[in-house]
Amino acid sequence: MESVIESMMKTTEIEFPVTELIEQRRSRRAYSSRAVEVEKIKSLFEAARWAPSSVNEQPWFYLYATREQSTLWNKIFETLMPGNKIWAKEAPLLVVAMYRKNFATLDKPNGAAKFDLGAANAFLSLQATQLGLNVHQMGGFEKSKAIELLNIPETHEPVVIMAIGYLGNLESLPENLQEREVAPRERYTQDFFVLNKTF
Ligand SMILES: Cc1cc2nc3c(=O)[nH]c(=O)nc-3n(C[C@H](O)[C@H](O)[C@H](O)COP(=O)(O)O)c2cc1C
Repeated sequence: MESVIESMMKTTEIEFPVTELIEQRRSRRAYSSRAVEVEKIKSLFEAARWAPSSVNEQPWFYLYATREQSTLWNKIFETLMPGNKIWAKEAPLLVVAMYRKNFATLDKPNGAAKFDLGAANAFLSLQATQLGLNVHQMGGFEKSKAIELLNIPETHEPVVIMAIGYLGNLESLPENLQEREVAPRERYTQDFFVLNKTF
């Protein structure tokens, strides 16, 4: 449960100018059945490719399936938690985002790998926004099932599944999700997470 003080430290406004793509990006749930063009899929992963990473290790790794690849798409879909399946069932593109646990040339864990994957996913998400696509990341999936169904090796760790596609009709969603879809988003104000003195 959120404290009163915490809720007071949130607003729904963008308080200082940011680039338009950041303003427009949202994790929506209503998908159109329109397929995502192959070139656009390539652009999404290209954006991830150019993310920064610790020692330029580029530990991110993506496994994707389009809806037409129904066997693979279903394997990814099957791993989702029931609450995510309700809306992600319409997504024309599902992507499992994972990272390589060890450095490529050293038999040693890369402590920054998950962090770097997050940066790559953020790049991918903003590129998607620019292409008119919606990305919704989901931590709500069964990791062990994903490992089994997708044959993910020990060397790789899945972190989120992303539902990607064009926006569809709000009415296609159950009522409670329709409300969430149009609700204003809240964020902590900068006072909550930015410090310009010692703690
Ligand atoms: C790592 C991660 C895991 C998430 N898992 C889920 C999820 O399982 N189901 C879901 O509906 N949304 C999930 N989200 C979406 C967040 O709820 C969403 O990003 C947050 O509410 C802010 O909304 P916005 O992305 O529209 O700004 C996840 C987001 C991230 C980054």
